[in-house]
Amino acid sequence: MKKKVLAALLSVAMVATLLAGCGSKSEEPAAAPAPAEEEAEAPAEPAESEEETPADAPAASGDLADKKVGVCIYQFSDNFMTLFRTELENYLISLGFAKENISIQDGQNDQATQTNQIDNFITDEVDVLIINPVNSSSAETITDKVVAAGIPLVYINREPDESEQKRWEENNWDVTYVGCDARQSGTFQGELIADLGLENVDKNGNGKIDYIMIQGDPENVDAQYRTEFSVKALQDAGLEVNELFNQVGNWQQAEAQTLVANALGQFGTDVEVVFCNNDAMALGALQAINEKERKVGEDIFLVGVDALSEALENVLNGTMTGTVFNDHFSQSHNAADAAVNYLNGTGNDHKISCDYVKVTKDNAQEVLDMVK
Ligand code: GAL
Repeated sequence: MKKKVLAALLSVAMVATLLAGCGSKSEEPAAAPAPAEEEAEAPAEPAESEEETPADAPAASGDLADKKVGVCIYQFSDNFMTLFRTELENYLISLGFAKENISIQDGQNDQATQTNQIDNFITDEVDVLIINPVNSSSAETITDKVVAAGIPLVYINREPDESEQKRWEENNWDVTYVGCDARQSGTFQGELIADLGLENVDKNGNGKIDYIMIQGDPENVDAQYRTEFSVKALQDAGLEVNELFNQVGNWQQAEAQTLVANALGQFGTDVEVVFCNNDAMALGALQAINEKERKVGEDIFLVGVDALSEALENVLNGTMTGTVFNDHFSQSHNAADAAVNYLNGTGNDHKISCDYVKVTKDNAQEVLDMVK
């Protein structure tokens, strides 16, 4: 049921992506997996184009219960990564891994702490590693030590740069990255605003979209791409833009609240649009907007990314203009399936993609039913 809803949503997203002319062109988006508890009856359907990722790989594996999985998360307190790791663990268990053989470590946003955890996993001889790096720039060092230990590696969420990915390919290492193309999420954010029409957004009547931008932690390229592509989508729609303020809120609600309060204090009613690179920060922005007695949908517009439940409820109430679903089901399932493929010796492409879904009042309830 949830699966069908998401598949339908994704097909809408795919059409939108094609129309927008962006998103991952080289790979078909994966059919949307259901949450893990339904997965026992309905195995994941990896992308058809990933020919090395057979749809029945998880079911075919015999002795996963004996396999040790090490998972490193950059920071447990991150809302989105909490959804991700919970789903990842549930899904791994639904595939046949034993709960006691899945170890998930909190890097506490500190690369030295995480590196230590990786070293311990290597000493413990885990069979496969799934890593959400604290610093994407540390990927080369991490890859080198994990490959030297003969352990297959699945990176998630924070994409290592192109030159690093090239090394996996050139050396034919068992290393892959699972994630969505953040350019698409930025484009969707911009379209959410552009679709409202200049006449409805340009409250100060200067003929431009006056916006403030609250960026995530630059350690994730998602922050950079969402920033760039949200604005680009406005420009591509023929709109003139005026950036009033652009600062880093590190994906954090409280930091964003302070920044947006400052921006609203400084620029007042000239602020027409608040772009936040994620929903946690959009929730902080909303607090600041409420404090200044501004009204989303009337005199200001607010968008985020992730589709956290609270954000979806705000979209339904009209207190957020929209968000973009960052599909933690597909990403966590694809990461677990990739781990199984390495254990089975089937192998994987070096990059496994999925699609974002644009969320407005029209589909927020469906997405909420799915994520809740
Ligand atoms: C992004 C997500 C953010 C945050 C970040 C962590 O994809 O939208 O909310 O979780 O990953 O790297």
